[in-house]
Amino acid sequence: MAAILFVCLGNICRSPLAEGILRRKAQEAGIELRIDSAGIGDWHVGDLPDHRAIKEGHSRGCDMSMRARQFRTQDFEEFDWIIAMDLANVQALNRWPGSRPKIRLARSFDKSATGLEVPDPYYGTKDNFVEVADMLEVACDGILKELADSEEQVSFVA
Ligand code: 4NP
Repeated sequence: MAAILFVCLGNICRSPLAEGILRRKAQEAGIELRIDSAGIGDWHVGDLPDHRAIKEGHSRGCDMSMRARQFRTQDFEEFDWIIAMDLANVQALNRWPGSRPKIRLARSFDKSATGLEVPDPYYGTKDNFVEVADMLEVACDGILKELADSEEQVSFVA
């Protein structure tokens, strides 16, 4: 089973939304995946997502009952893809002790994306959360497509 970890700064806005959206899409498609999320910082460890992220996730049929945790070095071993929301997250992960070259930007899975980053909505408005969730819906479709393509290649080789 492939294992995917989403990472943002606080693990209460973007990465839990990504986790909820990908879990919903994987369930709808009948695909078994391990999906988790984590933050670079530890300020919100144990917290539910931000109330605006919960509201936006619920409106899209996502379970938003996850609790925040901080990224840990062992995640580099446990997850196949570590998917960061912005370039500052990528930089922090690249500098993490024990860093591994399996870090991707979420929007790299969106072939039509005009920007690289999913912007931090924490100091923004409700509309920013809608915008973030829209970006993540498309990125998660791309993740599932890339996974399906890579599994096809594996079975073709076999
Ligand atoms: P996130 O947003 O990285 O999308 O979860 C943030 C949440 C909290 C903080 C920063 C960003 N903070 O500084 O507490």
